[in-house]
Amino acid sequence: MDAPLHDRLDGQVALVTGANRGIGAQVAADLAALGATVYAGSRKLDAMQGVETESGGHVRPVRLDVTDESSIEAAVAAAVDGSGRLDVLVNNAGIGDWHGATLDVLDTERIDAVLATNLRGPMLACKHALPHLLEHEGGRVVNVSSGMGALGEGMSGSAPAYRVSKTGLNGLTAYLHGEYAGRGLLANSVCPGWVRTDMGGPNAQRSIEEGAETPVWLARLRPGAPAGLFWRDRAVIDW
Ligand SMILES: NC(=O)c1ccc[n+]([C@@H]2O[C@H](COP(=O)([O-])OP(=O)(O)OC[C@H]3O[C@@H](n4cnc5c(N)ncnc54)[C@H](OP(=O)(O)O)[C@@H]3O)[C@@H](O)[C@H]2O)c1
Repeated sequence: MDAPLHDRLDGQVALVTGANRGIGAQVAADLAALGATVYAGSRKLDAMQGVETESGGHVRPVRLDVTDESSIEAAVAAAVDGSGRLDVLVNNAGIGDWHGATLDVLDTERIDAVLATNLRGPMLACKHALPHLLEHEGGRVVNVSSGMGALGEGMSGSAPAYRVSKTGLNGLTAYLHGEYAGRGLLANSVCPGWVRTDMGGPNAQRSIEEGAETPVWLARLRPGAPAGLFWRDRAVIDW
């Protein structure tokens, strides 16, 4: 789909969760290559050594565990204090319940962990980022969701907590659009496809670069672009 896009992101500031590996690391690198200053959230800062220097200072690692609200607040503050603004939040960090368990036998601890990471985390990240995202028209939230959470794609095949967390994340996107679009916010959900990361495994169809493509495209939307939608491959898909 055609949409008004920023050609470059010079002068803009992004915060990406789960940016030490996989799709999040690629999104951070791609946004930095477009000129943004990117705060790359990771709960393992030792995994980020050298990233800031190698990126010429464009990618700045920041400690961020999305299950810990104080670390979310601190990461948002680090971006705003360090660079004076926040234009883009990419809620990328995620975990799954991949061991084939259906809900009737799934450990409650796993349900809690998946919902805390994939749904409560993005909700709190939005809560703390919104005051800054709303300071300039065209602030963006990109929620990295999954077709596994799409009500229209058939909810079976295990991973119940993951599926429901992503359905909830899509609900967060719809809420953000309903509540804040009038104040200039562009909030979207995206399914990156099946991607060869630690989560997706080696047999997945897509490279990490391909998986990052539509999330980065959504992070480039300008005011007037479509929002409040669920995307894959730059096309709108059903919730
Ligand atoms: N890969 C796919 O096929 C696929 C398909 C659809 C949707 N997605 C979605 O795409 C997103 C990225 O997935 P991926 O494939 O890149 O997964 P990945 O390679 O497993 O990476 C997950 C990232 O999330 C981080 N993370 C997990 N828990 C966290 C927490 N509590 N706080 C902060 N960071 C945390 C991990 O950090 P650590 O290194 O500290 O664990 C890691 O950086 C996820 O939301 C996923 O659901 C992926």
